[in-house]
Amino acid sequence: MNGLEGIEKTTLSRFILDEQRKNPAAQGDLTLLLSGVQTACKIIESCVRRAGIAQLYGLAGSGNVQGEDQKKLDILANDVFKEHVASTGKVCIMVSEEEDEPIIVDNAFGTAKYAIAFDPLDGSSNIDANVSIGTIFSIFRIPNPAEIKTAADATKAIMQPGSEMVVAGYCMFGSATNMVLTFNGGKVHGFTLDNTIGEFLMTHPNISIPKDCHIYSVNEGNLILWDEQTTTYINKVKNPGDGKKPYSARYIGSMVADVHRTLLYGGVFMYPADKKTANGKLRLLYEAAPMAMLLENAGGAASSGALNKRILDIVPSSIHQRVPVFMGSYNDINYINELYHPK
Ligand code: AHG
Ligand code: MN
Ligand code: MN
Ligand code: MN
Repeated sequence: MNGLEGIEKTTLSRFILDEQRKNPAAQGDLTLLLSGVQTACKIIESCVRRAGIAQLYGLAGSGNVQGEDQKKLDILANDVFKEHVASTGKVCIMVSEEEDEPIIVDNAFGTAKYAIAFDPLDGSSNIDANVSIGTIFSIFRIPNPAEIKTAADATKAIMQPGSEMVVAGYCMFGSATNMVLTFNGGKVHGFTLDNTIGEFLMTHPNISIPKDCHIYSVNEGNLILWDEQTTTYINKVKNPGDGKKPYSARYIGSMVADVHRTLLYGGVFMYPADKKTANGKLRLLYEAAPMAMLLENAGGAASSGALNKRILDIVPSSIHQRVPVFMGSYNDINYINELYHPK
């Protein structure tokens, strides 16, 4: 051990620059935007790790448009992400889980060609127990930024199907801090933050999800509320018959952590629709869609059950729209789609 381990690894900043160089027409706007995202994630990571010391656990005493009690770190992460992304001047619209309406970014008004939707802190219920949480983001191209004059214009401009996303990614604050991201049509790469140099190093190039893997991840507390198709699938994996080994159950309760494990180990993560939440719980623009692109680009699949066989095809009807989520190993999602959409 000479302290130089990892020096051969690509940094996230260099990887993003290499991606820019692949496109001769690129002017570096997305590179700058992603550097703002990186900085925001590093600062949020630092706040999360110091939360116990800096009295940042617990409730903020306010609520959000989702009807949730906001945690102090929800609000801090939201403020940090807005500040460091808006200050790049490369986004004209920002949509956050913690903001009722889209934010039109004044200094980029009418010029910046990107919009970003984000979940500043995913897995808030796990913060105080020091369980993995994270930040999720999706970046879209805005065709005509000069035409965006009102929040209604901004809402319309960002409500694009996930298949239009330019970049999808998350930063997970776990025992290590991982940034996982993918460009539209590209591969999925994972980076680990090396705090000694403040850089994300590429540690998981070309993540590919196993086609089959015997893990299922769902909140079984909602069991009695599920529809027939979800119930059939879960019963099948718990009791496959023919002497086959049942699946293992793993549920962390932070989407970012459950999806990260699913990407690396395979299996299925789901938050189905149920009798209590007709559209499920997870939000399309800044949870389901970015994770769906990551899963698809890693060779998996992502369905919305009865609503749509492919999450990335859903055109949002509102910025905080919720959708049912089934995502993971290709063969399992294919089976779930056959249950919901029999030929
Ligand atoms: P958020 O903390 O951003 O509001 O998201 C929480 C979500 C997601 O992280 C997780 O998969 C799901 O809520 C867990 O919901 P249950 O506690 O109902 O299982
Ligand atoms: Mn929340
Ligand atoms: Mn979330
Ligand atoms: Mn959140």
